[in-house]
Amino acid sequence: MVTCSAPGKMILFGEHAVVFGKPALALAINLRITSTVKGANQYSVNGHPMKKRHHMYISAALDEAWGGPPINIDTSSEIPSGSGLGSSAAVTVSCVGAMMAHRGGLEPEKIALKSFLVENKVQGRASPTDTSTSTHGQGIIVSPEKVDNFLWRIENGQRCWNIHHCEVPRLHFVVGYTRIHASTGPLVAGVKRLVDSSPEAVRAIDRIGEIVLEGVDAMAHSDKKRLGELMDENHTLLNSIQVGHPELDRLVEACRPFSYGAKLTGAGGGGSMIALTDNPSAVAKAIKETGSEPIIVDVGVEGVRLEDEGTTRK
Ligand code: PMV
Repeated sequence: MVTCSAPGKMILFGEHAVVFGKPALALAINLRITSTVKGANQYSVNGHPMKKRHHMYISAALDEAWGGPPINIDTSSEIPSGSGLGSSAAVTVSCVGAMMAHRGGLEPEKIALKSFLVENKVQGRASPTDTSTSTHGQGIIVSPEKVDNFLWRIENGQRCWNIHHCEVPRLHFVVGYTRIHASTGPLVAGVKRLVDSSPEAVRAIDRIGEIVLEGVDAMAHSDKKRLGELMDENHTLLNSIQVGHPELDRLVEACRPFSYGAKLTGAGGGGSMIALTDNPSAVAKAIKETGSEPIIVDVGVEGVRLEDEGTTRK
């Protein structure tokens, strides 16, 4: 029996544009998914027979990273699903990690690659941002070029992404979770249609790419004011490529008086927003007053790891 856990993530800058080969900056957050793999008579998930259409990520993870006898996979999650906080990546990375550890050892680069292939297969089109953040933890920069602090490279057909470690300074973020479920696949497909037909959308994607690079620089200098300005601009651009939601705008507005900046995070269309602040409790209160769920998160936490069975399972 092997137990692994992996963190969720927030995308600070660059969601959607990263699918088109632009850079992105993502941070691991202290909400985790834990998966335990153990021998069984039939393939099952949380004690129920495994069904491909119900357990899409887990069954794709089995295809990618297992090939052994039947197993049961037990999962427990602290990450709301469809929240934009990387629950599908964390379930995939923790399962792939547990399967690989069961057969030998934890090799982050292999886990990141296999987990990307799983997400890409289930979602139809994906970047490795979520799965590499969940694997490495801390912070990652995805970019088309290889630069300092290189970790690994992920290729898929014509596209390739270089994954780098990003040092995360002490920053306080609050997540506002709208409880509006949004599926990443259709949102990504919608942006592709827009980019294929609208020069403004192409310009928005290009500008988001520049924001990421300016954001990396602001992170390196712990420049919260600049980070906040860039978050605000990134949010406006995400609205312009039609992945916003009125509820996300309401939350962003409610947080602004107490924040350096705020933006939607992840695929959008619902899900979550994030605010950078020195006053997490004031931001959390403002989010609560709008009827959404505030989550004060730590960022830059550890990536995929083996857990000691019995101490971590709930
Ligand atoms: O829905 P999430 O939080 O998994 O974020 C998806 C991020 C996108 O850039 C929209 C897609 C991707 O695969 O990078």
